[in-house]
Amino acid sequence: MTKDEKTQFTQKLLAWYQKEKRDLPWRKTKDAYCIWISEIMLQQTRVEAVIPYYERFLKTFPTLKDLADAEEDLVLKLWEGLGYYSRARNLQKCAKQLIAEGKTTLPSDSNALQKLPGIGEYTAGAIASIAYQEKTPAIDGNVLRVMTRITKDDSDITKQETKKKYKQLLQEMMGEDPSSFTQGLMEVGALVCLPNGAPLCSNCPFQTLCASHQDNTMLNYPVKKEKKERKIEEKTIFLVMFANEILIQKRPAQGLLASLYEYPSEIGHLTKEKVHKLWNRQGYQIKSIQLLPKAKHIFSHLEWHMIGYMIEVAEKKEGLWVKKEELFQNYSLPSAFQTYSNILKENVDTTNM
Ligand code: ADE
Repeated sequence: MTKDEKTQFTQKLLAWYQKEKRDLPWRKTKDAYCIWISEIMLQQTRVEAVIPYYERFLKTFPTLKDLADAEEDLVLKLWEGLGYYSRARNLQKCAKQLIAEGKTTLPSDSNALQKLPGIGEYTAGAIASIAYQEKTPAIDGNVLRVMTRITKDDSDITKQETKKKYKQLLQEMMGEDPSSFTQGLMEVGALVCLPNGAPLCSNCPFQTLCASHQDNTMLNYPVKKEKKERKIEEKTIFLVMFANEILIQKRPAQGLLASLYEYPSEIGHLTKEKVHKLWNRQGYQIKSIQLLPKAKHIFSHLEWHMIGYMIEVAEKKEGLWVKKEELFQNYSLPSAFQTYSNILKENVDTTNM
């Protein structure tokens, strides 16, 4: 965008917001505590659904201290129906933490905000700009939809670099009223530049600036790379023990978890009988077999759904046998196997480790 377009963008947005903004309860205040509650409630929840919850919550807990001192049961009760209860638990955790540090409200800069439980980059930007006028934009899917349509930008909005680009651009354009800027952009995303179906371009402050409106290509934006479905692989993991030693192996030097160590495994979920046969066939005499808990590990393109067995054998054969207490000191076992490694750790003497 040219310098002139940037100036126009800010002017048009602020003028439109002053005229068109909805009368929402959290817009009657600049109190960071109230803005914080509203932003957390508005995550994954529609504005109309949030309003009565917001009002009841703040009537019950008017200050950060009231929330910190509240019974958890009451906090959760007031959240009933909003869903995603970890949001409520994090709110109270955060309140307790701040009160314990001697604070009476939320910190005013977005970096400090982002370190608190339940506050990510978007929410930190929203609170800092709306309550404290910090020039930090709040960028979510709605904002990215508006911006990529205006600039006819086909960058993948799921990419961090796309977000970064708009963070920089919006920061430059925020001007003297970041609070109205952030809320105005949210309002354009919610009321005009709609995600599904036709955007209401005739009501849009950016109509003359918007590149995709000029050739009616609004619906081509934003571009979002489809998440590939992950392949699911079932595996059976074997913790093969001889006295205090365990059998491990090194993974191939190429590919997934290259050159790391692993427990022997087989594709598929094997029954105890199958496992018995399999290890007998390798020449082992088996003293005991015990089924272990299930575990799941998610890679970007693949999920391992695992079951495991602890197998006690009567003698060692060829292979890499390692003393349990040396296993985690000397070998890299990927966290994909954590459930099974933890079982071994539970009965390792860790003194001197
Ligand atoms: N969605 C997220 N934050 C919002 C806000 N402050 N007002 C309206 N909708 C929102």
